[in-house]
Amino acid sequence: MIWKFITFFVRKLDPEIAHKLTIKFLKIGLHPRLNQSVIPVNLGDLICKNLLGVAAGFDKNAEVMNKIHFLNFGFTEVGTITPRPQYGNPKPRIFRLEKDKAIINRNGFNNSGMLQAKKNLAHYRKKLPVGSDFLVGINIGPNKDSKDRFSDYKVLAKNLSKFADYISINVSSPNTPNLREFQNKENLEKVINFVKEGIATSKTLNKKLPIFLKIAPDVNKKTLKSIIETAYSQKIFGLIISNTTLDRSSNLKSKRSNELGGLSGKPLFKKSTDILSQANKIIKNNNYKLFLIAAGGVSDSKTAYVKILCGAHLVQLYSSLTFEGPLVANQIISGILKLMKRDNIKNIFDIIGVIDNPKEAMNVAINGFKNHKN
Ligand SMILES: Cc1cc2nc3c(=O)[nH]c(=O)nc-3n(C[C@H](O)[C@H](O)[C@H](O)COP(=O)(O)O)c2cc1C
Repeated sequence: MIWKFITFFVRKLDPEIAHKLTIKFLKIGLHPRLNQSVIPVNLGDLICKNLLGVAAGFDKNAEVMNKIHFLNFGFTEVGTITPRPQYGNPKPRIFRLEKDKAIINRNGFNNSGMLQAKKNLAHYRKKLPVGSDFLVGINIGPNKDSKDRFSDYKVLAKNLSKFADYISINVSSPNTPNLREFQNKENLEKVINFVKEGIATSKTLNKKLPIFLKIAPDVNKKTLKSIIETAYSQKIFGLIISNTTLDRSSNLKSKRSNELGGLSGKPLFKKSTDILSQANKIIKNNNYKLFLIAAGGVSDSKTAYVKILCGAHLVQLYSSLTFEGPLVANQIISGILKLMKRDNIKNIFDIIGVIDNPKEAMNVAINGFKNHKN
């Protein structure tokens, strides 16, 4: 009850101030301590105590990793971190679309920079070393005014890999001009190679550190196919699908729906799940080994279940933390366990990516597998 009240109160504040306050609350220990039901996931080189994680952008400067696991998340992705500190775009730059349960942000990689993140991560790793079952992914991106964005990715990988359970290459933020062009084959190969060189010259003991590519939901089929082929041929561990969208075709009701920036939350669910499902089909049909992390509009156990049915090995959320509050992970995980029980599923791996159509996946999430025809 108290957390519902606090969430309600915080949501009345300006979104950026609310976010700062939330990070402060977490830092001083004002948060629930939940450690109840979990769904562990073993991806070989990544073993995670719980399949639900916090998406990038929430803990930009790696300040509250040790607190996020108290909220019953199994992993967190810090960043996006850029080499140099960056103010980002002028404020206001985050807009809450209450009626749509959505957020538009045009932050533009506001963060304290790589050296501060490195300090915070080094401190955290003294207690919870790489390889602990609560995972920390590090999401990296270039400075807006960088003269050589490829080298930015390399220097970030070189400095930060030692502290990471995985690296997430952000080539999809809509708020850094032209960043999405890094999703094109030639650029993507080059970015991946620069990151690999960064890892090779870093102090990490794990030179095969898993790399994920975080992609946009606004890619067409051809680009998606090309990204997947590049990821596979470059031995990337997986894709994160997806970042926020520039698309505003989802009949938004809120006043601020025309603000510039990336849209996240409920209206992103369909679009990001469609791309996830397409990616899952391409990967299955070609027998590629690539793992998928789903993000976009996950707010309850059914939306998370749909992501899993459409191919997600792990699931992330950000916006619903704002709308539902700090108990959201617990609610989602216990809800998924109930759905698994209803469907007589013993192991989550038995249902990952088994349904090719997101609409049908939602039907299964609501009504169970009983009425589902293969
Ligand atoms: C305020 C805000 C800031 C974000 N910042 C980042 C970021 O720095 N890097 C990134 O890769 N994604 C960022 N994201 C995108 C999220 O990580 C996630 O991909 C997206 O919001 C979809 O998930 P959701 O619908 O659960 O929010 C941000 C999202 C929001 C709402």
